Amino acid sequence: MENVLKILKIPFSVFMAVFTALTSLSVGNNFNIKKPDDVELTAALISDTHIRTMLYSRILLKPGLDDISKHVKPDLFISAGDNVDCGNEQNWQALGNMFDKYLSVDRKILSIGNHDTWVSYDTPHDFEPAKANFIKYAGEIMGEEIDNVYFTTEVNGYSFIVLGQEEPRTGSTISEEQLLWFEDALAAAAEKSEGKPIFVINHQPLNFTHAVGDNEHSNGFYSNETSDRIKSLLCEYKNVVYISGHQHYNLDADGTGEVENFKTVETLAEGVTLINLPSYEYGTCFTGGQGLFGQGIVMYVFADRIELCGRNFFLSNWQKDFDVTIELI
Ligand SMILES: [Fe+2]
Repeated sequence: MENVLKILKIPFSVFMAVFTALTSLSVGNNFNIKKPDDVELTAALISDTHIRTMLYSRILLKPGLDDISKHVKPDLFISAGDNVDCGNEQNWQALGNMFDKYLSVDRKILSIGNHDTWVSYDTPHDFEPAKANFIKYAGEIMGEEIDNVYFTTEVNGYSFIVLGQEEPRTGSTISEEQLLWFEDALAAAAEKSEGKPIFVINHQPLNFTHAVGDNEHSNGFYSNETSDRIKSLLCEYKNVVYISGHQHYNLDADGTGEVENFKTVETLAEGVTLINLPSYEYGTCFTGGQGLFGQGIVMYVFADRIELCGRNFFLSNWQKDFDVTIELI
């Protein structure tokens, strides 16, 4: 049964790609984006591209990369994990080739997702080769030398702290060593940022946020204690934004969408905002919902606020029902 579903998934994906392209033609496009004059950083945020070597991956991703490169023209591209569907070299090379050909954005940040932590579906998972592939290929794509799945970087004077799971499991696992590193990285970023926003990226959302419960579905962290420690570290600072993916839910500005108790943007505490990105590759049409693939967010960072605009990069359309402003304090 599982094999039949796998086989059916491919023609269904191709069908949905064609359907989505036709929908794009019928609803019209929104190509002309004028960046506000006073914006300090523009970023295209996507997650869960799950790229494989197969044709349908390219059919799905290319229009989105074109839209980002030609219309959005951000300073920064962020992919919040599950960059590839399985972290072997072939998939990473396929993703690298796509980015080389179609993504012209100066800065890119990729975080590791659970699908990036295994190199084969058929053998017992071994983290080390997957970690090595992430360090090599994500590092090449970002144009930065990284030596672990967690690292920091800076774009337009804004600090980005990237966390990453350290076991090949579906939920998040973060070592004590990484937690201590994160504590120092946050303190260093806060000192340097002088009140400007600090961005933290981790594939999985925190437990008891974004409709994640006590991690019964592996949607968050396996350990409530680890999740709580990250929450309390985030809450020590103001203007912190935690960006995750993993759940594959639609953009939902007001909590009235397909998933009960889910909102894309939540406030953890005053000055601490959480964003849970949809899956670029798997719209909820794959799980019985209405959402098409291609969804993501264009983030405009100003001196006094952050504006999050929903966009379907595949369709080159704004999602007019998703427009969220985060006031900075
Ligand atoms: Fe995913």
